[in-house]
Amino acid sequence: MELKGLVLSGGKGTRLRPLTHTRAKQLIPIAGKPNLFYALEDLVAAGITDIGVILSPETGDEVRAALGDGSSWGVRLTYIVQEAPLGIAHAVKTAQPFLGDSPFVLYLGDNLLSGGIKHLVAEYRQTRPEAIVLLTPVEDPRAFGVAVLNQAGQVVRLLEKPQDPPSNLALVGVYLFSPAIHAIINRLKPSGRGEYEITEAIQGLVDGGQRVVAHQVRGWWKDTGKPEDLLDANRLALSQVVRRVEGELLEAEVIGEVVVEPGAKIVRSTVRGPAYIGPGALIEDGYVGPYTAIGKNAKLMASEVEYSILMDDAQVYALPYRLDSSILGQGVVVDGKGNTRRHTLQLVLGDRSRVRL
Ligand code: TTP
Repeated sequence: MELKGLVLSGGKGTRLRPLTHTRAKQLIPIAGKPNLFYALEDLVAAGITDIGVILSPETGDEVRAALGDGSSWGVRLTYIVQEAPLGIAHAVKTAQPFLGDSPFVLYLGDNLLSGGIKHLVAEYRQTRPEAIVLLTPVEDPRAFGVAVLNQAGQVVRLLEKPQDPPSNLALVGVYLFSPAIHAIINRLKPSGRGEYEITEAIQGLVDGGQRVVAHQVRGWWKDTGKPEDLLDANRLALSQVVRRVEGELLEAEVIGEVVVEPGAKIVRSTVRGPAYIGPGALIEDGYVGPYTAIGKNAKLMASEVEYSILMDDAQVYALPYRLDSSILGQGVVVDGKGNTRRHTLQLVLGDRSRVRL
């Protein structure tokens, strides 16, 4: 039976407040594109066209509006509302009527994978294990699901956010499952933190002697749960952009791998890539340094910015110091006119915030 896709775009996103007060975290732009689009495009590239999207009641409408019916990607989308964010396994359970007896790829909508999933889907189709999980070594495994492998490289144990991690191999938010997972999920009890854990469900497969295959991630992987992760994901995604200048340059110096979208204007300014300048954006008497993404119709006037994300319609004027490691939400205004002292700034501001300096 053909594989389906299940993209998770619900959850609370508490760690990304205030950005997530007004926006689904999966729609935060990474190198100018919502995080969720990368997940969808990975599925499409692997030939998966029947895709369920888990929504929360709070941000569901926004996600629906962003994805539409999926026809721009040539896929069929089925929206599934999860009434409460009771865990990844609970999201899968909510999607059972959509998934039926099909094997499926479970893709967390705030994860980014540079190597894609095509090779994993191909392997699944050939070898048909009960599950394929992806692992990557991390510095502090206590924040992740953690796997222990035996000498043959098979998964023998999985633990969710262990205090005392038995390995440094974290579970990445992309999984392939046969329908055997459903019976186990239906028997799960909530964990200590009150969630139905997918790690426990996979442990159930292992305990039942089912075949759970583990692979290390190819290239890089990023989970954008926290503000610093967004900036790092933005850096990683920008490191893959290829120069494409379609906007207007007037006395501008645009160096290296920079995307300047149509309608953007760069005037008496320097842009040093990798960087992304969205459609209709205006950079005037400014500097845009490496690893910066500027959203649609955003403005940067007489100011400098580096290693930052400015979302759509954000505006920055006459800052006497360089913005660094900052995230400005949609429509945020940072106005430095009149301030002459030199400091650095680190800002994480939600949509429609306003700062006057
Ligand atoms: P998490 O980042 O673990 O959870 P969260 O989004 O609630 O964020 P926070 O911990 O900051 O409050 O979720 C991983 C992904 O799975 C994310 O894209 C949201 C999604 N998700 C659901 O769709 N349903 C759920 O019940 C949960 C827990 C997560």
